[in-house]
Amino acid sequence: MAQINAPKGTYDLLPEDLTHWYYLENKLRQIFQEYGYAEVRTPIFEHTELFQRGIGETTDIVEKEMFTFPDRAGRSLTLRPEGTASVVRAFLEHNLAASGGISKLYYYGPMFRCEAPQAGRFRQFVQFGVEALGTEDPRIDAEIITMAVNFYKRLGINDLDINLNSIGCPDCRPIYRQRLIEHLRPRAEKLCSDCQRRLERNPLRLLDCKNPICKSLIEDVPLITESLCESCGSHFQRLRDLLDAVGIPYNLNPRLVRGFDYYTKTVFEILAGDLGAQNALCGGGRYDGLVEECGGSPTPGIGFAAGMERLMMVLNARKLLPQVNPKPHLYLAPLGEAAQLKVFPLVIQLREAGWVVETDFQNRSLKSQLKLANKLGAPIVGVIGDEELAKEQILIRRMDASQQQTVALAQLEGFLKEEFSH
Ligand code: HAM
Repeated sequence: MAQINAPKGTYDLLPEDLTHWYYLENKLRQIFQEYGYAEVRTPIFEHTELFQRGIGETTDIVEKEMFTFPDRAGRSLTLRPEGTASVVRAFLEHNLAASGGISKLYYYGPMFRCEAPQAGRFRQFVQFGVEALGTEDPRIDAEIITMAVNFYKRLGINDLDINLNSIGCPDCRPIYRQRLIEHLRPRAEKLCSDCQRRLERNPLRLLDCKNPICKSLIEDVPLITESLCESCGSHFQRLRDLLDAVGIPYNLNPRLVRGFDYYTKTVFEILAGDLGAQNALCGGGRYDGLVEECGGSPTPGIGFAAGMERLMMVLNARKLLPQVNPKPHLYLAPLGEAAQLKVFPLVIQLREAGWVVETDFQNRSLKSQLKLANKLGAPIVGVIGDEELAKEQILIRRMDASQQQTVALAQLEGFLKEEFSH
């Protein structure tokens, strides 16, 4: 029968990969806790309307990339393509604003986008991210960017490109939008079909079109940073002062717009040069209108999300992942059926006492059991054959030395404690 493989754009994580994933997961939980963010877990699917309203009807994600399906009652559901809209929904549904202050939340889990798979781009991928709801203060923008940068630095990635922009607010953006449309309308016919469609509906998206003709056509467009209102301008300046104060370098990139309609003011991306075309490790920004869009009272927010797979690619390529091979403390080698009957409860007893113990399940010879113990990296092997059984003893072999000794079976745990106490 034909073999069935994993769907396009998905992948399996095998035990060896997962040691690295656990390492990263611990690191990111640690930094989030240190910066005062608490975890939320939301469902993997939501009502489609949440993303249509939150992310925006004219975005690529909503137009082309969502996995949407009806439930049995005909309601439209969608596998979450990102975490922000879900966190905002949960924030409202559980009335987290009522506790006062700022809600600083983080999340970690799979997201789904029906994109064309390529290196660093999957259809199911894992994001970790944070959302801070309840303040417009640029200090929280600076905190979030700093935390993201410091996270990568802690892992040994120091040469990051941080792209920063402000895309204004509902006061100043419509004016810029109009200027942009008027500037580009005379060249509309030369734009790619996506950009022609976007020109009147969502013209800011033209600024990050990858098509070379569009790129050349927008070279001289007016820049949003020249159109910011006073409040957005001073918010942006304050953020830059704060980033300077903590020594985070950044590039001002007035063409950075990002693919979500919810953004206002600050947007940023952190790039790693060695990732190739999909070079964004992380992206985020402020969304002061999203809570209202989702049915709540006006509440400012800001956050970012970052891809685990891309981070893993960078760490792997730069050999920055620790070699973590969990090794057993002891390998117990029974020789013959009677010894197996003695060894089986002993293995369980030692494991219940906290020891990592391996043994044979295939009636192997002593030679091949020693080989296996060696492969597993067990420093000590305990051999029990008929002779040892008769004397209630175990023959202990240290893998790094030729000498061996016998230990009474009843003393085995005491022996292990002694061995591993230093
Ligand atoms: P995003 O830029 O779409 O932002 O995604 C954030 C990160 O997720 C990207 O920089 C990338 O590392 C990773 N990523 C995105 N799509 C894929 C994919 N198909 N395959 C692999 N990795 C991917 C957001 O999702 C926003 N919700 C971020 C945010 C949070 N803004 C405010 N709060």
